[in-house]
Amino acid sequence: MVERLRGSAAFVPGLSLVAEVGDQMVGHILLTKIRITGSGRDLASLALAPLSVVPEFRDRGVGKALVIAAHRQALELGFGSVVVVGISGYYPQFGYRPLPSYGLKVGFEARETNCFAIELVARSLGGGEGLAVYPPEWMGQ
Ligand SMILES: CC(C)(COP(=O)(O)OP(=O)(O)OC[C@H]1O[C@@H](n2cnc3c(N)ncnc32)[C@H](O)[C@@H]1OP(=O)(O)O)[C@@H](O)C(=O)NCCC(=O)NCCS
Repeated sequence: MVERLRGSAAFVPGLSLVAEVGDQMVGHILLTKIRITGSGRDLASLALAPLSVVPEFRDRGVGKALVIAAHRQALELGFGSVVVVGISGYYPQFGYRPLPSYGLKVGFEARETNCFAIELVARSLGGGEGLAVYPPEWMGQ
C-alpha cells in the first residue's frame, strides 16, 4: 500500500514521516492527497494511512508523536483537514470526529464507526453532504 501510494499523484513527499529511536526506525505515518466533493465543493484534503508502530515500541507515545507531527507538517504545507478510516478508539484523542458528523462518507465500503476526520483549520471540510474521494491506488488499482 505504501509503495502504491508513494508512486501515485496523491503522494506528498513531506507527509511521509518516520519515528526513530536511536538508529532504529520504529514507526511510520503517511498522509496522501484526497478530494472532498459534493454540495458544490471540491476541496483538497488528506487521508491518513497507514500508521504503524513496531510491536516492541507500542504504548510509548510513538503513534501519538507521529500523528501530531503529521498534523503540524500538513498545516505547514497548506492542508486544513485529514480523513482516516481506521481503528475506532484511537483518533478521537487528537480531535478527530466521526466522518458523518461532517456530512461526509468515503467513496468505498467502510464501517461508519471507523471513519473519522479532523479540521486542522476551522471549516476546512466545508458543509453539507459530500464524499471523501480517495485515489485509485488506495483501492489497490
Ligand atoms: C495503533 C498504533 C499505531 C498506536 O501506536 P502506539 O505508539 O502504540 O500508540 P501511543 O503509545 O502513541 O498511544 C497514545 C494513546 O493511545 C492509546 N492507544 C494505543 N493504541 C490504541 C488503540 N488500538 N485503540 C485505542 N487507544 C489506543 C494509548 O493507550 C495512549 O493513551 P494515553 O495517552 O492515554 O496513554 C499501534 O498500536 C500500531 O501500529 N498498531 C498496528 C497498526 C494499526 O492498527 N495502525 C492503525 C491503523 S488505523
